[in-house]
Amino acid sequence: MPTKRLPDYYNNWSKLEELANGWKSKTLKQAFEEDNNRADRYSISAAGLHYDFSKNHIDEETLQQLTAVAEQANLKNAIKKLYRGDHVNNTEDRPALHTALRFNGEPQTEEQQAVSATLEKMGHLIDSVHSGEWKGYKGDRITDVVNIGIGGSDLGPRMVTKALTPFHTGHVKVHFVANIDGAEIHDVMSSLNAETTLFLVASKSFSTLETLENSLTARRWVLESGAQESDLAKHFVAISSKVDKAVEFGIDADNVYPIWDWVGGRYSLWSAIGMPIAFAVGIENFNKLRAGAAAMDAHFAEAPIERNIPALMGLLMFWYSNLMGTDTQAILPYAYHMQMLPAYLQQLEMESNGKSVTRDGELLDYQTGSIVWGTEGTNGQHSFHQLLHQGTTVVPIDFIATLKAHHPYDHQHKFLFANCLAQSQALLTGRDLATAETELRAQGASEEEVARLATHKVHPGNRPSSTIVMDTLKPETLGALIAAYEHKVYTLGVLWNINSYDQWGVELGKLLGTHVTTAIDTTDVPKDWDSSTQNLIKRFTEANKKL
Ligand code: F6P
Repeated sequence: MPTKRLPDYYNNWSKLEELANGWKSKTLKQAFEEDNNRADRYSISAAGLHYDFSKNHIDEETLQQLTAVAEQANLKNAIKKLYRGDHVNNTEDRPALHTALRFNGEPQTEEQQAVSATLEKMGHLIDSVHSGEWKGYKGDRITDVVNIGIGGSDLGPRMVTKALTPFHTGHVKVHFVANIDGAEIHDVMSSLNAETTLFLVASKSFSTLETLENSLTARRWVLESGAQESDLAKHFVAISSKVDKAVEFGIDADNVYPIWDWVGGRYSLWSAIGMPIAFAVGIENFNKLRAGAAAMDAHFAEAPIERNIPALMGLLMFWYSNLMGTDTQAILPYAYHMQMLPAYLQQLEMESNGKSVTRDGELLDYQTGSIVWGTEGTNGQHSFHQLLHQGTTVVPIDFIATLKAHHPYDHQHKFLFANCLAQSQALLTGRDLATAETELRAQGASEEEVARLATHKVHPGNRPSSTIVMDTLKPETLGALIAAYEHKVYTLGVLWNINSYDQWGVELGKLLGTHVTTAIDTTDVPKDWDSSTQNLIKRFTEANKKL
């Protein structure tokens, strides 16, 4: 089978390599010194976001060459194909129409009409729970909503619900359960009353082990509290593309909210999968979130590549992964409520673009999806930032910050923002040996101490980052931010010629999971399995013998 290389697609590859090499003898600090206008030149504002990418290893020529890559990949046409519902998910032969979930104005297409009708029905449900009209089996109003789902049926809703904490209406408390580890559902249910709890069973496929097992546990818990089978409709709602399976599972047909095959799970938070968000912040705020995403969709479709936020986010990652030799990227939101963003983006980026074959199934020999990691600032500063500053690995970073806070402690927000800027500044400028020595002498260190300590205090600097700033963290800006990352992922998929919308890599683990479970249940462990797996099963079986 032929192996695909990036120079097979891009005729300016040697020029790009030459430009990447050029950064070996030039620093970002020098680039700023040479160009007073650098920050303005390499910043874009759109859809409520300000994207400053000036602290990256780029210049006019690099941008031109990267734009040429996007042109050769036919990115603009690929965006049209995505939006109009072409089967961009070619291995599953279907569209990836998440943009249809957040259209502006009256619904036009068949998909938009289905979305509109479902969101309207969802709005009624939320109103009736919020107003207390919807009652639990003992006639009490619902106080708590628990979303049971995993992956795309959990991370997006969980991340947004947390991010929009200042917008919570307080009508109900929203909780999340994802893990097959019974500890999670146990912890959540321990603090709740079944009579006043509504469960949302969220599963696009309605066949995910974790979600089905957790739902059965929840069902038993409601019944054991005294409810009858006929009461369950008051406590269980489902969101799925397999409506029949949800009904078969025991969910009342009226309580099943559809999603569709043309939406990928990790792109589905704008649909009824976003129900927990709407329960927490109200349907109006949920619609504002969708509107923010729609504004970013319009920008992605209309802005020229060199002024296009998601396209540039993708091109920069391509530049770092495939030409500058980085393996990972860090997402550092300087906003406590955005603490789940890195976890959400791990699925979005790594499940979408962690691929080793092209769209046509040819092997590829270039790096695709890079590892995404991070946590909220300033917490990360006191754990892994040491490696970012002085480690041997270079990690491109997205800093995300808000200009204004929702809380009353302005002075703390000032420290937060200042720390965010100071981190990117320190990574950029670094501290050279001469400066480290001068500083030590100024602190009264002896010459012996200077010689012993100075190299430890050197920061290489020249480490790249982008900063995304929004006025406040509100539904519209959050929607735009998420959509920007969704489109960044698609941009990369197009540049790498891979399908960002399938996830065959999760299948083998699931299959072997069922085989191992059977082996534990039957105590019949195949002799040809590796000895490590055999030994560990034996340990588990022995430990659980008395149960
Ligand atoms: O196992 C991976 C995955 O299929 C994800 O792609 C998906 O978001 C998650 O599982 C949950 O799937 P479902 O919504 O069908 O339960």
